[in-house]
Amino acid sequence: MSKDTIKTLPAHHESSLSPQNVIDLFKVTFDQELYRDDRQTLSDAIQSVKTELYNRNYAAAFDSTEKRTAYCCRWSPSRAIAYTSLFCHLDAVRDIVQSNTNSEILCIGGGAGGELVSIASIFAPSIDFNAKYSTNKTELQNKTLRVKLVDIADWTTEVQRLTEKLQETWLFDHAADLDIQSINKDVLKMAPEDLNLPSLNLITLLFTTNELFMAEKASSIRFFQRLNKDCASGCHLLIVESAGSYSHITVGTKKFPIQYLIDTLLLGKRGQESTGAWDLVQEHDSLWYRSKDEIDYPLKVENMRFFYRLYRKK
Ligand SMILES: C[S@@+](CC[C@H](N)C(=O)[O-])C[C@H]1O[C@@H](n2cnc3c(N)ncnc32)[C@H](O)[C@@H]1O
Repeated sequence: MSKDTIKTLPAHHESSLSPQNVIDLFKVTFDQELYRDDRQTLSDAIQSVKTELYNRNYAAAFDSTEKRTAYCCRWSPSRAIAYTSLFCHLDAVRDIVQSNTNSEILCIGGGAGGELVSIASIFAPSIDFNAKYSTNKTELQNKTLRVKLVDIADWTTEVQRLTEKLQETWLFDHAADLDIQSINKDVLKMAPEDLNLPSLNLITLLFTTNELFMAEKASSIRFFQRLNKDCASGCHLLIVESAGSYSHITVGTKKFPIQYLIDTLLLGKRGQESTGAWDLVQEHDSLWYRSKDEIDYPLKVENMRFFYRLYRKK
């Protein structure tokens, strides 16, 4: 396992499109809400999402189109630029996204589009746009990256809007190379055949693990046990959550960081870590992403501080 020593992720990694490109994608997708409609409507929706998230009323935070769009306008852009830098920083994740073979990624709680846009911003530069003009038949068979976004809230419209702009702006005639599926389901209740865990190369749980455990602790534990059983050897699992006490959970009378519980479930009990189904590949307890001041966006672009854990199935 390698403990990350950097304190701050680079604002831009050369393997991806630039942060401004990523932010611009949100600008063109949500042009109506950001630039044309009455700004008060968007501000009100942002305020109510903020209040619901602060009070940990997660279902209420995403229960209307106005609130979901507000999250996509206000938070997903910041998330997307930070995730782009993080995914590029993690060699295994970057390799999966830019692989020359077909790969499949499952983003749990990924309906709001941050993960999708960041994956696309790393995938797009790896496309060989000349390949289709080649006379070599093997080059004509494009690689496909399948991205499945599973979310308990219905983000279908927002994902559709982002997908259309991604295809128009970044993928052009290679749109089919990025196969995006939006699945509106509770991941804890999904049938094994719908999750298709054995075929996955990467699972992301970004700012979602806490919500799962807060909502249903026993089902969440069972879900992690299913990952232990069903994921194929070599599959990666990336978990990101807020650094610090916001990510503590209560079990019995004790409160402790959620990563301790996840480590126990995936790696084995403390002191017997080698007994679990996964290896810990890389981790950081408090990593910053800071956007450049000159980023052009009509709303605040947040800096982020988070912990991450990257696991690999044995
Ligand atoms: C705080 S948001 C994070 C969104 C996104 N991953 C990001 O980083 O910006 C948590 C997401 O997890 C989703 N979620 C919560 N519980 C879920 C469950 N049981 N199954 C699927 N998605 C869930 C929520 O609807 C929401 O979209």
